Amino acid sequence: MCGIVGYIGTQTAIDILVHGLEKLEYRGYDSAGVATIIENQIHSVKAKGKLYNLRSKLEKESSIAKIGIGHTRWATHGKPEEYNAHPHLDGQGKIAVVQNGIIENYQELRQQLKTEGCEFVSDTDTEVIPHLIAKYYNPEVDDAFMSAVNKTISRLDGAFAIAVLCVDFPDELIVARQNAPLTIGFGQGEFYCASDVTALVHHTTTILTLENGEIARLTPLGVEIYDFSGQRLRKAPRTLDWSPVTVEKQGFRHFMLKEIHEQPAVVRTCLEAYINSNWEPNSNENPVNLNLSPHIYEDLEHIQIVACGTSWHASLIGKYLLEQIAQIPTFVEYASEFRYSPTPIMRNTATIGVTQSGETADTIAALEMEKQRRIIATNEYRPGILGITNRPESTLATIVDQVINTYAGIEIGVAATKTFLAQVMSFYVLALDLGYRRQKISAQRVMEIINGLSQLPNQMEQILHSEEEKIKELASDFPDTRDFIFIGRGINFPIALEGALKLKEISYIHAEGYPAGEMKHGPIALLDAHVPVVAIAVSGSVYEKVISNAQEAKARDARLIGVVVENDTEDIFQDKLVIPEVDELFSPVLSVIPLQLLSYYIASLRGLDVDQPRNLAKSVTVE
Ligand code: G6P
Repeated sequence: MCGIVGYIGTQTAIDILVHGLEKLEYRGYDSAGVATIIENQIHSVKAKGKLYNLRSKLEKESSIAKIGIGHTRWATHGKPEEYNAHPHLDGQGKIAVVQNGIIENYQELRQQLKTEGCEFVSDTDTEVIPHLIAKYYNPEVDDAFMSAVNKTISRLDGAFAIAVLCVDFPDELIVARQNAPLTIGFGQGEFYCASDVTALVHHTTTILTLENGEIARLTPLGVEIYDFSGQRLRKAPRTLDWSPVTVEKQGFRHFMLKEIHEQPAVVRTCLEAYINSNWEPNSNENPVNLNLSPHIYEDLEHIQIVACGTSWHASLIGKYLLEQIAQIPTFVEYASEFRYSPTPIMRNTATIGVTQSGETADTIAALEMEKQRRIIATNEYRPGILGITNRPESTLATIVDQVINTYAGIEIGVAATKTFLAQVMSFYVLALDLGYRRQKISAQRVMEIINGLSQLPNQMEQILHSEEEKIKELASDFPDTRDFIFIGRGINFPIALEGALKLKEISYIHAEGYPAGEMKHGPIALLDAHVPVVAIAVSGSVYEKVISNAQEAKARDARLIGVVVENDTEDIFQDKLVIPEVDELFSPVLSVIPLQLLSYYIASLRGLDVDQPRNLAKSVTVE
């Protein structure tokens, strides 16, 4: 949700800023802008829409600046127009600011600044920041720039990460963080900052993640970090084990397609990390290497999960697994709802935050709230707060007691695919660990589950190999389709929700996911020959029920597409998307793949921007 970058050093700043914005564009693409300092003046260039608009403006000029800031916007306050694009400047054009977040008290500040004579040129909350810095800027005092930014920050309510330039300090870039991500990158005589390490890894893997309440001064000589009260902090950077190749398309047309194809490898990595492949019944070892706190194994009575979007869907599968394998009553909440109407605090409850970005504002706030509630009710605090994410360096990690890394790595496509499956895999591992250590499943069952899981990567590869071309062809049948319905039951109901979400996110087709048995209580009224129905009808306990529900749709002339196992003999489906025969327990890991491919090819054939669909952002750092 908005991305910011900054650079100070010896290279041409514009090139580095634009490259960084390219990597951050998944966070928002309503407008983009950069500001540099050249000959004691702020030089700012902005453009509405995607980064290529800014790039073509920049091509017309050459810049020698060695310091600059940049921004890619996901509009919150004010339309996606150029006048609302960052960077924002003070009245004299001496200070430039980029911001990611929301300044909640901006109306009050704006009103006050207006009465003091400030003129505003945008509708944004951010514009109050450069005006405030200018107001507090006193060239007579020591460290005038830092001091003005510090005073300004003390006036701001809300969540923000900012990067600031001041013409009187052409060798200083000041950055600050309060509840929005910001990382500093360390080079040789050059330093970077960005909302996400994806914008840094091309230049450096030596990084330092700023924490809430911290402000830093970047100069060509080094980085100084302070808390908001002005105390100098001694912090050491760390080295990321990432390669820049991770954030390239590697020959695929879109990141989403690349990430769909990465899924078998992601599942393999997760299994290698957590499953003890040499485990045998009667051995003294545990089958799963999660090593959670002992309280979790001893005292746990309930699990509550908070998440948003696709992560919420993964959590619904998690609920099924935790209840069916580990016998632990589990509740799944939308983080945005839980924040304002939490369930009464329950004894011995583990709370799990599930988030691919590790930054989603609602999920982070829900977990922070839960943590506070438990600190107050001291005895109720155990067994703890966990996080499931592929970004163990994110804000999530600073809140929870323990992170379960899904090992999916960075995901660039806005529509989540591999991170979803990786979250689901973490739930298999967690459920297996809890089920075994709490003696809810037999050693024999543990062996069966480990065997089932270990076959998944090959089975996933089989689907990608045998179904992709067929799905591409099928996708061409829906150039004008306006509505889709997805149905599933049991462990595949969340896959119906996920299939529908993928389709609407990237193809803008109205799509609904329903528990198949609920169709007749309303949604069936939507059906006619123009509304295709995708039924997840894999073998298992609810197979016949789903087939009956699909029959009901067929009787209303709906075109039926079935996600079925090999050798399925049912002939009601006009099209069959085939997955290998598996125990129902593992089927969601396979059944989601044809649906990801179907939505990808429908959107791609419509010529839509699959990786950056309209109005969406990958990391939602506002409420
Ligand atoms: C955004 C993304 C979705 C994601 C959701 C939750 O809406 O576009 O793909 O599922 O946020 O994000 P999280 O990072 O918490 O999983």
